[in-house]
Amino acid sequence: MKILVIGSGGREHALAWKLAQSERVQMIYVAPGNGGTGADFRLRNVPITELEELADFAQREKIALTVVGPEAPLAAGVVDLFRERGLRIFGPTRAAARLESSKAFAKAFMQRHKIPTAAFETFVDVAKAHAYVEAKGAPIVIKDDALAAGKGVVVATTLDAAHQAIDSMLGRGAPGATRGVPQNAGADESSAPRIVIEEFLSGEEASFIVVCDGHNIAPLATSQDHKRLLDGDAGPNTGGMGAYSPAPIVTPNVHARAMHEIIIPTIAGLAAEGIVYTGFLYAGLMIDARGQPRTVEFNCRLGDPEAQVILMRLKTDLLEVLLHATDGTLGSIEMQWDRRSALGVVLAAAGYPVEPRKGDTITGVPAETPDTCVFHAGTALQDKKLVSCGGRVLCATALGEPLKAAQTRAYQLLQGISIDGGQFRRDIGHRAIKR
Ligand code: AMP
Ligand code: GLY
Repeated sequence: MKILVIGSGGREHALAWKLAQSERVQMIYVAPGNGGTGADFRLRNVPITELEELADFAQREKIALTVVGPEAPLAAGVVDLFRERGLRIFGPTRAAARLESSKAFAKAFMQRHKIPTAAFETFVDVAKAHAYVEAKGAPIVIKDDALAAGKGVVVATTLDAAHQAIDSMLGRGAPGATRGVPQNAGADESSAPRIVIEEFLSGEEASFIVVCDGHNIAPLATSQDHKRLLDGDAGPNTGGMGAYSPAPIVTPNVHARAMHEIIIPTIAGLAAEGIVYTGFLYAGLMIDARGQPRTVEFNCRLGDPEAQVILMRLKTDLLEVLLHATDGTLGSIEMQWDRRSALGVVLAAAGYPVEPRKGDTITGVPAETPDTCVFHAGTALQDKKLVSCGGRVLCATALGEPLKAAQTRAYQLLQGISIDGGQFRRDIGHRAIKR
């Protein structure tokens, strides 16, 4: 079988890497891919990002299954397009992807279906937004309504910071064009900037990701991301600086509650509104001291870097899982997981997340072993040399038991890698290791 993976990040490298382990796979194309997928003899990069061209390619090459990594093509309707053309693709439709592409839609949906989440209000009017935070006080959370690659959220600890965030998202100088994603990507019907202001939730976060075939739901192993740039969860929010799986905060009790109070009502609520959900569904959870999970956000895809650690632990053939998921027969397959933990540390470019520098030479990336892999993200091959071309450059990932052993191994992988100005956190896994 020929497979097409859409995307170019660490998540897509991990997807392609895992799919390549399937005996039924003949060739895996990655569009557009990165320096890591380009260097792997089992994978082939194709320089296409435009949706119609991707569908043309899939038709011409007789691709048996297309797997979509990132949110932008999903929000732009790549699944709808492929299905119209009779092509098999795994991911949610444009309508289903609104759970991620519009925070206002997601919040209103959760309210309608009584899915636990932070109390909130939606604003288009600057003055009303300012008055609201003045009445509510800090801490408070301000979110850009549209897709912002994990960077459209300000957790304001002071009223000043809240007012500033409102001005920068709703004020005159806040064009959608500066959001860092294609303008049509998550575009809602109306183009006026909108924000969501919500209650600050305290607790510990975890990533709860499931595979859904439109009806059956299969949870993946749990994981935890590290969103802040700096050690000790300081500094700005990023797309994710490292992850590990499993996440011990997700006890069997929390797991059951996440399924019954969040995931199942979400899939059922969408179905009741005429939307059949097929694809990965990611609930970002905030778990309070009493073990109550609340939804911080939905993503309509795998997390990055969560995918790297989750897929490293998956023992079942991913192609089989995804074929069942597109056939509506997910109920007939059970996923097996490596009992060891996996931990991944992201190496980011100088200047990330504000203005990542590109074009730095990368050397010393170790070859994969049965228990380790350095997944590529923002890398490219230039004259056979590996250079950086994005914010998050690599994710050094390792299996080990206990988690501390996976952590030690992952950091060992990074030791030999050199990139000018590279940044990484030294404390990935700290919460679980402390437990
Ligand atoms: P989001 O893009 O909605 O996931 O937000 C990014 C990050 O901001 C989350 O992973 C949390 O760390 C933080 N965050 C978002 N919403 C809240 C909230 N209501 N309370 C506390 N932290 C939040
Ligand atoms: N790592 C968080 C995300 O993929 O949204």
